[in-house]
Amino acid sequence: MSPKTLRAMKVAVFILCLLPLGKLALEAFGVAGMSLGANPVEELLHRCGKWGLNFLLITLAITPLRRLSGWNAAIRFRRMLGLFAFFYILLHFLVYAGLDQRFAMQYIVEDIVERPYITLGIIALVLLLPLAITSTNGMMRRLGRRWQKLHRLVYPIAILAVWHFYWQVKQDILEPLIYAGILALLLGVRYFYHLQRKRKQHALTMDKKLRSETP
Ligand code: HEM
Repeated sequence: MSPKTLRAMKVAVFILCLLPLGKLALEAFGVAGMSLGANPVEELLHRCGKWGLNFLLITLAITPLRRLSGWNAAIRFRRMLGLFAFFYILLHFLVYAGLDQRFAMQYIVEDIVERPYITLGIIALVLLLPLAITSTNGMMRRLGRRWQKLHRLVYPIAILAVWHFYWQVKQDILEPLIYAGILALLLGVRYFYHLQRKRKQHALTMDKKLRSETP
C-alpha cells in the first residue's frame, strides 16, 4: 500500500471513529429533532461505555484479522483504534463522574469501594492509562521489549471491561454474554498463535541442536 493510500485510509478510519461521538453530540444538542431520550445522562453514559468496549474489542481483533487475511497494513490502524477505545472510556468515566455524580468525590469513592462493577471499571481505566501514555513512537523506542510486555495489559483490561458490563446489567444478560463470547474467541485465537510460535521456536532450537551435534 502506498504511503498516500495509507494516509487517506487513516483519515477515513479517524472520521469513522468520530461518528459515534458526532451522533451523541447531535442528539445531546437536539439537532434536527434528535434526542438522547428521557434519561440523557444514562444514555450518554451507556453509549460511551459501549463504544469504548467496542473499540477495545476491535483493537484486539486487528492481529487475528491481519493473520487471517494476510493484510499486513491492518496493524497501522491498531494504535488509533486503541486510543479511540481509551477516549470513549475516558468520556464514559467523565459522564459518570461529572454529569451523574457532579464530581462529588465522596460519592465516587463510595461507589468505587462499594459497587464491585464500578471497582472493576476503575481498575480497567487505571490500567489503560499507561497504555495510552506509552502509545507514542518515542515511548515505543524508549521502552523496547518492555513496551510489548506492558501492552499485554490490554488482555486483562478487556476481561475486566466485559466483566464490568456483565455485572452492571440488571436483567437481560444476553448482550454482555455475546461480548464475553467475542472476547473469548479473540483471546483463544491469540493463545493459538502464541502456541504456534512457541512450537516453531522449539522446533528451530531442536534443529540447531541436532545440527551442532551431528559430526
Ligand atoms: C475499561 C473501562 C470501562 C468500560 C469498557 C466500560 C463499559 C461499560 C459498558 C459497556 C456499560 C453498559 C452500557 C450499556 O448497558 O449499554 C457500562 C456501564 C456503566 N459503567 Fe462502565 N466501563 C468502563 C469503566 C467504567 C468506570 C471507570 C466507571 C466509573 C468509575 C464506570 C461506570 C459505569 C456506570 C455507572 C455504568 C452504568 C450502570 C447502570 O446503568 O446501572 N465504567 N460501562
